[in-house]
Amino acid sequence: MLQQPASKYRSFPPVGLKDRTWPDQVVSAPPVWCSVDLRDGNQALIEPMDVTRKMKMFETLVAIGFKEIEVGFPSASQVEFDFLRMLIEEDRIPDDVTIQVLTQAREPLIRRTFEALQGAPRAIVHLYNATAPVMRRVVLGMSEDEIVDLAVANARLFRELAAEQPATHWTFQYSPEMYSNTELAFSKRVIDAVVAEWNPSPQHKCIINLPTTVECSTPNIFADMVEWTIRHVARRDSIVISVHPHNDRGTGTATAELALMAGADRLEGCLFGNGERTGNLDIVNVALNLYTQGVSPGLDFSQIDEIRRTVEHCNQLPVHPRHPYVGELVYTSFSGSHQDAIKKAFAARREDDTWDMPYLPIDPMDLGRSYEAVIRVNSQSGKGGISYLLESEYGLELPRRLQIEFSQVVQQHMDASGKELSARDIFELFEREYRIDDMQTPIHRVVEDAGVTGSSVQLDATIDWNGETRQLKGQGSGPIDAFVAGLQSITGSSIRVIDYHQHAIGAGADARSVAYVEVQIDGGKGVFGTGIDANIVSASLKAILSGVARGRPTATPAATQALPA
Ligand code: KIV
Ligand code: ZN
Repeated sequence: MLQQPASKYRSFPPVGLKDRTWPDQVVSAPPVWCSVDLRDGNQALIEPMDVTRKMKMFETLVAIGFKEIEVGFPSASQVEFDFLRMLIEEDRIPDDVTIQVLTQAREPLIRRTFEALQGAPRAIVHLYNATAPVMRRVVLGMSEDEIVDLAVANARLFRELAAEQPATHWTFQYSPEMYSNTELAFSKRVIDAVVAEWNPSPQHKCIINLPTTVECSTPNIFADMVEWTIRHVARRDSIVISVHPHNDRGTGTATAELALMAGADRLEGCLFGNGERTGNLDIVNVALNLYTQGVSPGLDFSQIDEIRRTVEHCNQLPVHPRHPYVGELVYTSFSGSHQDAIKKAFAARREDDTWDMPYLPIDPMDLGRSYEAVIRVNSQSGKGGISYLLESEYGLELPRRLQIEFSQVVQQHMDASGKELSARDIFELFEREYRIDDMQTPIHRVVEDAGVTGSSVQLDATIDWNGETRQLKGQGSGPIDAFVAGLQSITGSSIRVIDYHQHAIGAGADARSVAYVEVQIDGGKGVFGTGIDANIVSASLKAILSGVARGRPTATPAATQALPA
């Protein structure tokens, strides 16, 4: 790269529109959307779509709700021509959809385009020619006057050919190509000349389309350009102002949004931003940005993954995992602090609340996504994500101190493996660490009101202790207390229960109980045990054994057993 890039590149000149009004505008209604997937997008593919793929794309665009769809460049290739004929002859165009086709400002191409449109009920015919200085000077070798004459002559041909097919409802569209690089005064001159030739009315408007053919300024400058043009063109009331952003600077979405604020009525773009070079405007992005501001976009992305799969199939190009709104990872948080915040916000959220969720600009459910991917655990994660997954996928509501304890177990595992853990992996690790499956369901006998001074319960059970079957008998204020007392006499250790939590998992006949017990052995550090069982007392006893087993790893109780009757 150059030390002095200014020796090679120049900064884009600002418009200097001092009384601009667009910065204060709020977009409160959607624009007219026009998909150019089948033209601009299709031209940019490594392998352009065949007719089957084109039809699939067309049907998808219709199902999403596009009312204007540019279906191709019929004079450019036989496939484009045939596809258009198929749409018309097989009556594939719904009554509320208007197809659009593109043609360069060249007589034979325009004639072929109108030929391809024979029998169409409605059509937007889109004319373009280059207007930018570099194109005039270097590519076309034409003066400004000659460019205006070219545009007007071909606009006239549009009128004449349309008049020969009066059964079709025609709309004409004109694009000064590279509007973004053309002097504003010259763009206005060409636009006014074309519009005068077409003589539109407020009842039958024409479309003037302003492309950032190559995006080369910040979006605020483009917004100034659009506002200036809207203020200065003749016959504004008879024109639909359309914008066609590309994404060379990565600001296509911002360009479109600011252009809407500047007064544009219509946007052209492609699904997920496909198109030449860095692509066209990503219409999905703008539509869902509006949606998250409470404005219905009039396009339906409630099954966004299915749309993505179709688009990937038609374009044979993948959508990036971090692509806004649709990428595989865009609703996923790996970071511990993010996970913690999401978990708390989900817990605090009530069904009718407005959406105000940290790190989630939209409810993934609205787009047909689940919450499953919202939290994924890797070595950057913390207890929040781990406990969220155990709770959302397995119904385990770990108490806070257990969350801290178990997250260290997970961390150690991940530091060793370096791999992401799924909810299932975490659950299996939890089962292993807390010996959930090692413990057989205890059949214990509890004698209430045992008549022992200071105690109300006597509990008898049999446990395996260091490979031996041992009988346990204890008294206490309740079954847990009695079991701990019995266990103390077998182990010879002092065992104290310092924390206890219990809840149900599931409901009805399948409901089970889970108990979390923090035990302190011989005055040492608290250690958690967990037990799961259909019976609430059995779950608690298993939890105590799990804690003791973890706290005294050399002495391992394996299971409680049934007492002989
Ligand atoms: O990007 C562009 O300039 C175009 C025009 C033909 C509208 O696609
Ligand atoms: Zn384009």
